[in-house]
Amino acid sequence: MIRNVLRMGDPRLLAKSEPVAELGTSELHALVADMRDTMAQLNGAGLAAPQIGVLLRVVIFGVHANPRYPDAEEVPDPVLVNPVLEPIGDAMEDGWEGCLSVPGLRGVVPRHARIRYRGFDISGEPIDRTVEGFHARVVQHECDHLDGILYPMRMRDFSKFGFVEELFPGGSEVPED
Ligand code: NI
Repeated sequence: MIRNVLRMGDPRLLAKSEPVAELGTSELHALVADMRDTMAQLNGAGLAAPQIGVLLRVVIFGVHANPRYPDAEEVPDPVLVNPVLEPIGDAMEDGWEGCLSVPGLRGVVPRHARIRYRGFDISGEPIDRTVEGFHARVVQHECDHLDGILYPMRMRDFSKFGFVEELFPGGSEVPED
């Protein structure tokens, strides 16, 4: 079922979400199905449960082949429950981001270039990956939602923040997530 995506200004987007207590339940499957439907309808690159008003630590995202990141491992449509992130090294990278909760805008956000993330899939199988580039960026963006952080709150240079049509008159490849 396609759900309404909350927009910046809604206080639920600033809340800290709760861990999922039990994996593999029908409730969790239904939540993830709704998140997938909603993300697909909006052509998003990722979605966190609080964006549809469910304050649980669940994110989904897609890391598909992208010419800008030819070395990125393709991870189609993973679900990550109760994630824990750990930066690998000190390197930070600037990159453009968008967000389904901040529609129509894009901004440059510094993120850790390389991270390890752990968590569980929908049925409770452990996930443990070390990633970089776009994959690392989308995971950091989604997991920030679980702590009530929206990407503008991570920005340092507001001269690189604006409406997508003005910033990229030829069209933007930067997804919302
Ligand atoms: Ni977002």
